[in-house]
Amino acid sequence: MKRLLLILSLALPLFVTAQNYIVDLNTVKAKIQPTMWGLFFEDINRGADGGMYAELVKNRSFDFPDAFMGWKTVPSRQSYGRNEVFQIINNAAVNPNNPKYLQVTAERPENVLLQNEGFGGVTVKKGLEYKVSLLVRLHVEGLKVKVEIVNSKGSVVGSEILRGALDDKNGARDDGRVSERTSIGRVSSEGARHGWKILESTITPSDTTVNGKLVLRFEGTGKLDIDRISLMPTDTWKGAAKNMRADLVQKLADIKPGFMRFPGGCIVEGDDLTTRYQWKKTIGPLEERKLISNQWKDGGASGRAMPDYYQSYGLGFMEYFQLCADMKCEPMPILNCGLSCQFGAGEVVAADQMDEYVQDALDLIEFANGPAATGWGKKRAELGHPEPFNMKLLGIGNENWGPQYVERLELFTKAIKSRYPSIQLITSTGYTPNPQFKYMDSVLRKMKVDIIDEHYYQTPNWFLMNAGKYDNYDRKGPKIFIGEYACHSIRIGNSGNKNTMLCALAEAAWMTGLERNADIVTMAAYAPLFAHVKDWQWTPNLIWFDNKSSYATPSYYVQQMYAMNKGTDVVPMTLNGESIAGQDSVWASAVVDKVKRELIVKLVNPSGTAKVKSIAGLKGGKASLTVLKGKPDEVNSIEMPELVKPVTAAVTLKGKELKVDLAPHSFTVVRLKI
Ligand code: AHR
Repeated sequence: MKRLLLILSLALPLFVTAQNYIVDLNTVKAKIQPTMWGLFFEDINRGADGGMYAELVKNRSFDFPDAFMGWKTVPSRQSYGRNEVFQIINNAAVNPNNPKYLQVTAERPENVLLQNEGFGGVTVKKGLEYKVSLLVRLHVEGLKVKVEIVNSKGSVVGSEILRGALDDKNGARDDGRVSERTSIGRVSSEGARHGWKILESTITPSDTTVNGKLVLRFEGTGKLDIDRISLMPTDTWKGAAKNMRADLVQKLADIKPGFMRFPGGCIVEGDDLTTRYQWKKTIGPLEERKLISNQWKDGGASGRAMPDYYQSYGLGFMEYFQLCADMKCEPMPILNCGLSCQFGAGEVVAADQMDEYVQDALDLIEFANGPAATGWGKKRAELGHPEPFNMKLLGIGNENWGPQYVERLELFTKAIKSRYPSIQLITSTGYTPNPQFKYMDSVLRKMKVDIIDEHYYQTPNWFLMNAGKYDNYDRKGPKIFIGEYACHSIRIGNSGNKNTMLCALAEAAWMTGLERNADIVTMAAYAPLFAHVKDWQWTPNLIWFDNKSSYATPSYYVQQMYAMNKGTDVVPMTLNGESIAGQDSVWASAVVDKVKRELIVKLVNPSGTAKVKSIAGLKGGKASLTVLKGKPDEVNSIEMPELVKPVTAAVTLKGKELKVDLAPHSFTVVRLKI
């Protein structure tokens, strides 16, 4: 068969020999896995609590070690003799997962109120309905609870009186406001047995406020217990969980990710083993999800400590699985492997005491995939998802390394593979640059593991220089997952790192090398995903947000342009028989989409010089060009969210040639019919 070659000629100054880019449509170099471009989610930089989790009340259950963190009371608890008005009851012996609640005792009519500061302020939108709810238990009748949202000046923008449950120990009499279930869950059967009820209503603010507060005013006299005070917007993302911020999740869905790795990251490991992530503690009724410290509270490498950073697990494994199902991407949970963070205490579970950890993995597989008749499958069905999630990928450990990791990995592998041979296990080489990388890589290859996870946080230059990294990797060994990567404009850990256009281009250039090697690099994810513009510990990140809005970075658009133009098969694209990886400052790769019968060419020009190329040998017809361009230091921001964003234009071929301008500092995706 006559080979069909497309010639992409680069217009060069006359004194330079003309060079031709050749795309060979008849040779399939690799199949591209549907999982190729995915997401990495971690509760870092307020990714979950104060971010994607839409809850607006901080420390809603008074379970932070400082039970009043985020709360202010009137009368002040500091005033001598008045702290009996607001009393924290620690009920850990009876309810270890939700130990504390607040008791309010008003013996005389006076100004008694409780105020929550939210996550850096309570932000509400004019005209939108918010669900307010609290768990209450009545001791002495008579108190009326008025809930208010106030703006930064203290003016009320919305209020509601919650009285029903407080009129009668048996619950609401006439207004139906008391229920067993609210937008954020139900009272556990244990809670109901102890007399707890839910009081719920809605508030529609008359004004938008970004630095507001939630206030509970107690009028009259009486005594009651209060727990889980919640304020939730009703414009949450449309998916099953109904408790996630729409603008943030929509940005994830708009990437069309192939997978989502969760829940981290370092938080899988924990500062020590007591703060490791344990999936079983993150599912079921909210009061059974025990709050724990967030490992990023201390600030990580940036030193930006956030003493009020805890994990409420309002988003837990069920919500993450549901989100993956909603976005039609593969769920990729990561489990603690019996080691806490090796940058910190590096605690190791004794090898003969690993049963609980391994059992957690086996139970997770049953929870995700088992029929509803199995123990954990039944649990999933009870939580609202009778159909299995069909999980195929499971990570053992995050950034773990050394013989102690290998020893524990062997235990997991043996147990999982004997019962669930088709589950693909993701194994760790630790962080990079990592002096143990070579050792880890060779041991994992000897173990014939399924997938090796590599992480790269590097400078623009490193990414450009390493686009050929996988060209000579062993083709017969384990598959490679780039579980975390991001270009850091200065260096890793530097708090001046920015999501610049140059970083995005360096990533795009590097990704041509991942795409070209899709036979072994089967998945990759930028990291981390989210950061609050005020509350962050790590930079750069893919998506930044404040309490009201969010913006995508140039790196986000690069991820999106790859994921939306994934194709099905890699075809060779060469210059003088070599991959295009920096010759004349251009990085390029090509795929075809066999379903749509299109050729997709990705061209990255990080240089400051415009280049013109032409794709020759075509039959005419229509093409589209999507271009992301900007100045190297340009960044998007809350004020200018779309300073840099891709623009798509349709082009009609007049003859058999398509000329493409590669603007300075640009990433171009060409799609054309073949
Ligand atoms: O992505 C931020 C952190 O970087 C992750 O938690 C960890 O795995 C890596 O060190």
